[in-house]
Amino acid sequence: MKNSRTGAVGSRIDGRIGGAVDRGAAVRFTFDGVPVTAYAGESVAAALFAAGIRDLRKSPRAGTPRGMFCLMGICQECVVWIDGRRRPACQAAVREGLAARSGTIDGPES
Ligand code: FES
Repeated sequence: MKNSRTGAVGSRIDGRIGGAVDRGAAVRFTFDGVPVTAYAGESVAAALFAAGIRDLRKSPRAGTPRGMFCLMGICQECVVWIDGRRRPACQAAVREGLAARSGTIDGPES
């Protein structure tokens, strides 16, 4: 998946604030098979956003891209597939080796 802002394939850590932020250890996970580098303690949604990945799933009716909206577990716009379950990306913590997938309500995209 390409970075929707820069066009680069996204495993870069570049969308975060700089300065004196005490971050956790770097961890790597994948989204639709694309490696993403994050920091322990971040949500999957925050890490994807920082990597420039905004399209998390397709709407069930129109098939249009959907992404993060509330970032507090209410709207369900950020739902992705993690470990075979639909989960809001903003409510799932990153961990080393986590494999997240985009998809629809019926299942992850293949
Ligand atoms: S962005 Fe609304 S539930 Fe995740």
